[in-house]
Amino acid sequence: MHASDSKVTLRLMTERDLPMLHEWLNRPHIVEWWGGEDERPTLDEVLRHYMPRVLSEASVTAYIAMLGDEPIGYAQSYVALRSGDGWWADETDPGVRGIDQSLADPAQLNKGLGTMLVRALTSMLFSDPTVTKIQTDPAPHNHRAIRCYEKAGFVQQKVVTTPDGPAVYMVQTREAFERSCSAT
Ligand SMILES: CC(C)(COP(=O)(O)OP(=O)(O)OC[C@H]1O[C@@H](n2cnc3c(N)ncnc32)[C@H](O)[C@@H]1OP(=O)(O)O)[C@@H](O)C(=O)NCCC(=O)NCCS
Repeated sequence: MHASDSKVTLRLMTERDLPMLHEWLNRPHIVEWWGGEDERPTLDEVLRHYMPRVLSEASVTAYIAMLGDEPIGYAQSYVALRSGDGWWADETDPGVRGIDQSLADPAQLNKGLGTMLVRALTSMLFSDPTVTKIQTDPAPHNHRAIRCYEKAGFVQQKVVTTPDGPAVYMVQTREAFERSCSAT
């Protein structure tokens, strides 16, 4: 599996990436938006929860974003239907995927890399013809993430309540994605 948007590419995360992911998930700029101080994961927790085989049992696929040979971020996609634990309980469409991601280096924020990453991920997911729509759910005050998703073609729908609290429900439909591809 290989997907690219300009300079940013995505590869599947492997077990060998987990110590690096643990270190990333404890960086303050990620802790702020990924669980908060109370949820800082230990290495043992990361090894248990982010093992690719464990994630796949929950229909989650994890990726490492690359800039050339440099790993620059973590991303994941999931099947929204039957997510469980109170997530997306109203979803009935098996074609809906969700995404989340974070850049590892605080010095690399606000340079357009997140937008490239999201574009690479959406284009890879839509290459599966059964995928109808991609959703994402940034915190309402994560204005940088919301703007990044908008630049990558997502549209704000409404504020929803998730098990992690309020979130802006944003979507990109296959129709909108294909329109944007034919316009460029
Ligand atoms: C969210 C994230 C992936 C976005 O990637 P990024 O490379 O920083 O984003 P981009 O540079 O592509 O786009 C950011 C946009 O937000 C804008 N922005 C930044 N701070 C902002 C703020 N406080 N209010 C409004 N817009 C803001 C930037 O100006 C830019 O828009 P522009 O190009 O129109 O000027 C990255 O910032 C990140 O990893 N953040 C920490 C963890 C996180 O929030 N993860 C997401 C959880 S949903």
